[in-house]
Amino acid sequence: MAENYDARAGVPRWLTLSGVLLLAAMVFVACGTDSTSVAEPAALEDNAGEDSGGTETTAAPSQTSFANDVQPILEANCVSCHSDTGPGTTHLEMATVDDVASIAEFIAFRVEDKQMPPWPQTGLQEIAYQYDLSMSDEDRQVIIDWAAAGAPLDVDRATNLTGTREAYPPIDADMVINASSPYPGSDKLDDYRCRILDPEFTDTTWVTSIETRPDETKVLHHSLIYHLPASQRASATASDGADGSPGWQCQTVSTFGLDQVAGWAPGTGPSSMPDGSGLKMEAGDAFVVQWHYHYDNGPLPDNSGIALEIASAEQVAAAGGALDPISNMTLVGPVEIPCATYESGPLCDRDAAIDRLRTEFGSESALIPEFVNSQCNVTPADFALFTDGKASSSCDIPTPAGEVVSILPHMHELGTTYRLTLNPGTAEEKILIDIDAWDFQWQMGYYPAEPLMFERGDVLRLECGWDRALWPAGLESRYLVWAEGTEDEMCFGSVAIRR
Ligand code: HEC
Repeated sequence: MAENYDARAGVPRWLTLSGVLLLAAMVFVACGTDSTSVAEPAALEDNAGEDSGGTETTAAPSQTSFANDVQPILEANCVSCHSDTGPGTTHLEMATVDDVASIAEFIAFRVEDKQMPPWPQTGLQEIAYQYDLSMSDEDRQVIIDWAAAGAPLDVDRATNLTGTREAYPPIDADMVINASSPYPGSDKLDDYRCRILDPEFTDTTWVTSIETRPDETKVLHHSLIYHLPASQRASATASDGADGSPGWQCQTVSTFGLDQVAGWAPGTGPSSMPDGSGLKMEAGDAFVVQWHYHYDNGPLPDNSGIALEIASAEQVAAAGGALDPISNMTLVGPVEIPCATYESGPLCDRDAAIDRLRTEFGSESALIPEFVNSQCNVTPADFALFTDGKASSSCDIPTPAGEVVSILPHMHELGTTYRLTLNPGTAEEKILIDIDAWDFQWQMGYYPAEPLMFERGDVLRLECGWDRALWPAGLESRYLVWAEGTEDEMCFGSVAIRR
């Protein structure tokens, strides 16, 4: 087994180490005195006013027509993903009226708890995004009422349903890359597997679109795509296959060792850079893709890949020899989540929890919480009052100037709320991302539909919230700080910016 592979943590050391170096070099995190230390759980309060249409029904169930009311909502919001080759079809087919009528309650359940359609944002965000899958509270209520009334039909059960929401057009791929061999799967329920995808570039190349090409959609849950510079190839290659299976187990550590360039969940579109810009890849650079597999019905082999659009020599020449580079701004906020009053154990002591990190992930990892806190101007004492299991944090981060290409939020499984606000507390304040039901299963990138510019001197406020009620049953309680294990937590994000 390669030396740089930490078998216990399942984490290659080079990622951990480079992550710390990257954090140490990070210039974007605010040190200013105006950083707010601990945020009120504002997202929850603000949403109370937003939900007004949610519980009132305008039409009595008996007046609801399946053909006129329910069917158009399903066809607009669900059917394109849940029929034909849609990404949800292997899980649930909604090709005919019978398909939906026979499981109306199940559908209503997923609609009511807002897991479907998969669009975690609340609507408080003040910019429009491409591939917006949001569904109104009124439409949700129509489905819920129809199911509660016993799913009455006024059309034949054999009627076909037709998706009416425009799916995104596939990119005009110049190259499709797959790993050298399929991943056979494992006996884990949730398996995070990193693979190297090598475009074999021999010259500087500008990538203008990246699209995930899923293979086995029964098990593939999401992908996070990172740029692997040639300088880090050797250590990545050493991890590859070290545990006897292609790739390596990578959980989420790679979120800060390498620049994330795209995030995909089923049904979301490609990452396309604005005209005249691109991701600069040098000879020998490659991608690391973290594939998240969910094996609720056992493992299946998968050979998903990515497709790329590449700027032609003419396009590069027309742009004066180089496109505008896309570079990443890293968002990091504090994580300090004390045990709730109903929890106890030796690891509820913060120092003991930090010692555990040192043993589990190495001494560099144990330094990260202090580093992030100092950058965000907070101390653990600021979080001591979070004793009911709910915690939140915030950090103000100055932006570089440029056009926002994508925003990729990231937390782990206890995450509940995630908000990103541009220039908070000023007349220009703008909420960019507002998620009140964070779903680790649906991490995806958000691509502004209209140009969104950052000016030098702008500030982004990152706010994250967690709930310890989501802590896995049976796992020993512990004080949680910023760390890379799936059961540790992060308050993180990556913003791709055209400079
Ligand atoms: C962007 C694509 C997409 C859209 C739009 C979408 N779904 Fe899904 N849906 C999926 C995928 C993928 C899964 C499987 C993964 C999961 O459960 O999260 C799924 C799972 C489900 C499940 C659970 C199936 C199971 O076996 O557990 C239900 C129920 C469901 N969707 C209903 C709906 C309804 C109702 C709508 C519309 C209101 C909808 N979906 C819209 C992609 C989509």
